[in-house]
Amino acid sequence: MVVGIAVTTSIYTLTPPLSSFRLPTRFFSPTAKFPLRLRASSSTTFLDTNQTPDSFVAEKEITRSSNPLACPVCYNSLTWITHPALSIDTIPESSLQCSTCQKTYIGNQTHLNLTTISGAKNYGESMPASTELFRLPLVSFLYERGWRQTFSVWGGFPGPEKEFELMKGFLKPVLGGNIIDASCGSGLFSRLFAKSGLFSLVVALDYSENMLRQCYEFVQQEDNFPKENFILVRADIARLPFVSSSVDAVHAGAAIHCWPSPSAAVAEISRVLRPGGVFVATTYILDGPFRAVPFLNTFRQSIRQLSGIYTVLSERELEALCKACGLVRFKCIRNGLFVMISATKPK
Ligand SMILES: C[S@@+](CC[C@H](N)C(=O)[O-])C[C@H]1O[C@@H](n2cnc3c(N)ncnc32)[C@H](O)[C@@H]1O
Repeated sequence: MVVGIAVTTSIYTLTPPLSSFRLPTRFFSPTAKFPLRLRASSSTTFLDTNQTPDSFVAEKEITRSSNPLACPVCYNSLTWITHPALSIDTIPESSLQCSTCQKTYIGNQTHLNLTTISGAKNYGESMPASTELFRLPLVSFLYERGWRQTFSVWGGFPGPEKEFELMKGFLKPVLGGNIIDASCGSGLFSRLFAKSGLFSLVVALDYSENMLRQCYEFVQQEDNFPKENFILVRADIARLPFVSSSVDAVHAGAAIHCWPSPSAAVAEISRVLRPGGVFVATTYILDGPFRAVPFLNTFRQSIRQLSGIYTVLSERELEALCKACGLVRFKCIRNGLFVMISATKPK
């Protein structure tokens, strides 16, 4: 079976010859799991066959305040009360305070809780089902032990290693800066980001405390994991605990379809990205009768509102979402139901 991958920008142009398109060589291997047929716009030259993973280097030195963390209530910077270090090892003893509202955030054994209701003893909230599902201990446990692998079987996801190679092409302009792995789950990409040494700070962020716990355990099981400048943060994607314009890159793997409000999430991502910062994400895509027929589209949205299940968007909707949230230079790579998108905060 030949699976077609289409690489597009917002405007389709004449399809150039395959030789003019650059992708990691391994994608052309006859033994690759997904033999690829490519369709590309001539302006898409963001991936380079001549670059092996190890040859990726920062295009320019990015100097950035070492602590982009902000209070999720008022978005002002958090200052350290103890242990001024962003490391998974020191988070359990860390506490930070908002410079404006004076609220204090204390690290637990595995992560820093930067949700708005962090520390509230007599108040709790439930999120929609697509968020709550991943808070279950069993789902978090199974996630990297079979659950995620099914995305490749029926969803066209190329698999973490290949997804990582593809996204590095999009992230090239921001290598050397900080990256938020938003909705990191058990941190399979956060760990790859940290081990690659390509970023000055990696924040693994998720709403699920059990996913973060899994990530913490995977990190502890690894020898020589670079724990400095790697932290786990619990936060809602729609209320990101980072100072505005303080982040170089946001990655969100297999997550947009799980977010309660993709527009609230992408607006937040846009807020925290600095000018020139890059958003790269993967999700499921659905182009079909639901999109073309207005009645069916409304019906689909009503069902989702009632059930709280996944939102699956079309390529056009994903582009419109990024644009509506102030992101430009939309690009995407597709393979079956899989799509990787990228968009940039304008300079
Ligand atoms: C399918 S998993 C993706 C995990 C990982 N990024 C990957 O590529 O496999 C979706 C993740 O989105 C997270 N998520 C869902 N709703 C969220 C929210 N409101 N805020 C932050 N994360 C959320 C879930 O906890 C879950 O870990």
